[in-house]
Amino acid sequence: MFGSTNLARARRSYLLAMGLGAATLAGCQQRERWPEEKTDRPKPPPEPPCRNGEFCVPSASSAEDTACETYVPLPAGAAAELTPEKRRQVRVRFDGELTATHRAGDPGHASCCYRWLEACRGRPLLVDGEALLASAAPRGDWIQSRAAVAARRAAGADEIDEPTRAVLERHWLREAAHEHASIASFALLALDLVALGAPPELLREVTNAALDEIRHAEIAFALASTYGRRSLGPSPLAVPPRPRCATPGDLALDTYRSGCVAETVAAALAGEAAAGASPLLATILRGIAADEQRHAALSWRVTAWALRRGSAGAARMIAHESELGFGFPATTAAAETSLVRFGVLAPTERRRTASRAIRSIVMPCTRALLALAA
Ligand SMILES: [Fe+2]
Ligand SMILES: [Fe+2]
Repeated sequence: MFGSTNLARARRSYLLAMGLGAATLAGCQQRERWPEEKTDRPKPPPEPPCRNGEFCVPSASSAEDTACETYVPLPAGAAAELTPEKRRQVRVRFDGELTATHRAGDPGHASCCYRWLEACRGRPLLVDGEALLASAAPRGDWIQSRAAVAARRAAGADEIDEPTRAVLERHWLREAAHEHASIASFALLALDLVALGAPPELLREVTNAALDEIRHAEIAFALASTYGRRSLGPSPLAVPPRPRCATPGDLALDTYRSGCVAETVAAALAGEAAAGASPLLATILRGIAADEQRHAALSWRVTAWALRRGSAGAARMIAHESELGFGFPATTAAAETSLVRFGVLAPTERRRTASRAIRSIVMPCTRALLALAA
């Protein structure tokens, strides 16, 4: 089990990554007081990923769209189709083009318009507000590396019935698509950092993280291929080669959401999956968990770096979002407890692990991050 010692170790490494010392570490730990989590909540129904939409709110000024706030909370009427838990995770971003169109159609009522996007798991690849994932394609080149061959050997697929094989193939293909998207996500983060004048050590770590994600994708495609008895890899993915975050504030907010929160949770989930897996698979998953933990620490470092460059608006949004709390609904509805030895957590265990990571790591580290920015 990914126990309290591991959680404390992860939290410590993230605080150190932000450049915080022992006194802050002790302070964070003492401030931790969270109510016990209820574990008997009903499972949410499966939902399509990453829904999105737009909304406009009255502007304080009818002048230029520069009067609009870059980041605003989701208003009551927007994204009404989402559950309250999902609404708390939605990402909202000002859209200048949409604002101009809206103002042109209704000159008497100045508005500021925003796009919202449902949060995705892992480190999502978001381009113009859309989450991009490659679909699976028949190809053998993603399952040939040493890591992939080791994963195929560790799969333990010999005595599995066909329905279970199908469930495992689907699960590992979904994981593979997200790992594959993370490669591009880190490559785009490197472009953002170059554009904002980041120091070489951040660029080196981000580039190394992209290499880790290639290995993770190979492992996941190898497992999916083994369970499905066919060679699978990613289809081409249309990634625009340009930076996404124009300001340190954009970078801080984007990295907080997709790195500090999502990768911290991903690291905890990978650690928990490793704890229950068969011995050979556990070794591989422990390696992934260690990588993800390093990626999460990198995200806290990047966010702290961006906030130190001054962005009160982004810091306010981070504070607002952390006050609302985070939820991570289970996404592998078909995964039952019996699949734990294949590295697949049951939905209730996913929720429990994610909630523990949020309250034991994300919340205290967020308080420390905001104290840095104050
Ligand atoms: Fe990964
Ligand atoms: Fe990662």
